[in-house]
Amino acid sequence: MAELADAQVIFTPSGRRGRVPAGTTILDAARGLGVDIDSVCGTRGICGRCAVVPAFGEFPKHGITSEPSHLSPFGDVEAAYRAEHGLADDRRLSCTARVLGDAVIDVPPESQVHRQVVRKDLDARPFQLDPVVRLHTVDVTPPDLATPTGDLGRLFDSLRAEWGIDGLRADLHVIRALQPALEKGSYRVTVAVHGGRDLIAIWPGFHDRAFGVAIDVGSTTIAGHLVDLTDGSILASAGVMNPQIRFGEDLMSRVSYVMMHDDGATALTEAVRKALDGLLATLVNRVGIKRAELLELAIVGNPIMHHLLLGIDPTPLGSAPFALAVDTALELPASELGLITHPGARVYVLPCIAGHVGADTAGVILAEEPHEATDLTLVVDVGTNAEIVLGNRDRLLAASSPTGPAFEGAQISSGQRAAPGAIERVRIDRDTLEPRFRVIGVEVWSDDPAFGAALGAAGTGVTGICGSGIIEVVAELYLAGVITADGVIDGSLAARTPRIVPDGRTFSYVLHEAGGAGPGSPRILVTQNDVRAIQLAKAALYAGVRLLMDQLATETVDEVRLAGAFGSQIDPLHAMVLGLIPDCDLSRVRAAGNAAGTGALIALLSGEARREIEGVVRRVEKIETAVEPRFQEHFVEAMALPHRTAPSPNLERVVTLPRRATAGPDDGAGPGAARRRRRPVPAATTTGDDR
Ligand code: FES
Repeated sequence: MAELADAQVIFTPSGRRGRVPAGTTILDAARGLGVDIDSVCGTRGICGRCAVVPAFGEFPKHGITSEPSHLSPFGDVEAAYRAEHGLADDRRLSCTARVLGDAVIDVPPESQVHRQVVRKDLDARPFQLDPVVRLHTVDVTPPDLATPTGDLGRLFDSLRAEWGIDGLRADLHVIRALQPALEKGSYRVTVAVHGGRDLIAIWPGFHDRAFGVAIDVGSTTIAGHLVDLTDGSILASAGVMNPQIRFGEDLMSRVSYVMMHDDGATALTEAVRKALDGLLATLVNRVGIKRAELLELAIVGNPIMHHLLLGIDPTPLGSAPFALAVDTALELPASELGLITHPGARVYVLPCIAGHVGADTAGVILAEEPHEATDLTLVVDVGTNAEIVLGNRDRLLAASSPTGPAFEGAQISSGQRAAPGAIERVRIDRDTLEPRFRVIGVEVWSDDPAFGAALGAAGTGVTGICGSGIIEVVAELYLAGVITADGVIDGSLAARTPRIVPDGRTFSYVLHEAGGAGPGSPRILVTQNDVRAIQLAKAALYAGVRLLMDQLATETVDEVRLAGAFGSQIDPLHAMVLGLIPDCDLSRVRAAGNAAGTGALIALLSGEARREIEGVVRRVEKIETAVEPRFQEHFVEAMALPHRTAPSPNLERVVTLPRRATAGPDDGAGPGAARRRRRPVPAATTTGDDR
């Protein structure tokens, strides 16, 4: 029989092309040309991961004609796979279909190992899967008396021969499970290889399920996504409260608890691990899988959460020089954290950056990629501590600023966490000073006649103000002239509106009257102390940002991303009116969602991303706000709304700011004179009674 000629094969979308001997399987042709096609079963025709879509017709661009007869006929293996699992009419299994003539072959995303993962719902950038855990099915040579080698050695031999994997080492539990698996699978087994190096799991026969969880351990909430490691899809997301709250509302009070109690660190570690384990239980139950199917976890958290979860004493983080026990990424068995998973499951913990800038910030960087930007990009993750990253591809700086819990609704008289019934949006009429607002869980605004009914339908009253609501109400009160640039509620307006009411030596603004929207609706005031708490928080954030801007010798930033649950809810305009962030083109200020959690997700699914963030963290310049002498100076300047001295050209293009009484050409004293007259308010002595 005449020998078949070579054939030209072109793969899309990669565009890789080359000649292969006719009769070569499409998969072998692809591998020879460096085309990325997935496989678990190792060409046994049972995993379906290698499915491709041949394209037929004339391809003048490529100079070839691709015809059905240029591939081997649809075979028994493919027919069996189609009958059992379904295989679309236009698809072929590349491990069995052979190239007989010129062909154009499309590799669909789901058949690529390094496929793109796109998660619009998470505000996540598209990223490329680079699985850390890979499954491989192999047939192992049965033992015989003539070649008395161990089963593990023969398994390694098969993995080397079939998959080209060398230098493996096996967990002890895998060695224990090896012989039963070989026996049950008739010497066919599937193994999970972690990082191309560790044999962490074994199953008899063919097995193609592997799951992982990406976890963000926040000081308030622990959130997780359960992910199919084989394709990057998120199967369930859930969150639990961090039970450490009972030991202290904020991070430093938890460190104090550890310092004052002999078993404090143990108690806090046990609490967070128990909550994390509960979260895993919730996630696997939701998806209907077993804990033993969890093979990989990726975790982010601020430095104190990071240390407590790992069982490391966090007290050195409580005072200068704020020394981390470890600032590199960690990889450890999940069992070391007491988590119930597959016995071989590994945990990847992203690297902390500095004493106050943790693995959560590493996650934010991974998700938002400021280190890839050409423009100067500011990313702030606002919580009880604000983590701040500023820079671009040339330099990247990070710091943390102690904003306190005001942005989360704590320390605010009517403050509450974001939950149904909480006021989240506010507008104040500039003439009548009357408010209208929207609460979480209800679509219509409070001045809509349908508001009462909508509240009733939602089963809530107006219960308080959440972080985004307090930002908006303070900013709106400032724009309406109720609050001065110094943050003082102007009591003289009591003559104009009954909404300004005396409150000791200061005044409050009545945002909502008790019972006005049905039962469960208390009177909601914005007090002078509330305004002060917000000023202190926003000044701390701004001062931290300003320190980083000083380091880069810049007066402006090009782009702002607001990350975290709170950051994602706040309106950029109101954040800028308040002076929470520096003046910037408003169209370039956007929410980044839970960027820390997204970073954990990316790290869970990509070994390449792990290497990337480890490299970036090494070159991040860390600024310690607590010991920077200029922090207090910037803080004092930033107490004013939006700022005592910084110009707001972008903001003033879209909104009319009240004329500054403290400095300006019309105040009769010229710019700077009033500023010099006015004594700054030191943070330590600022109270609600300083009017
Ligand atoms: S490689 Fe598994 S079906 Fe082709």
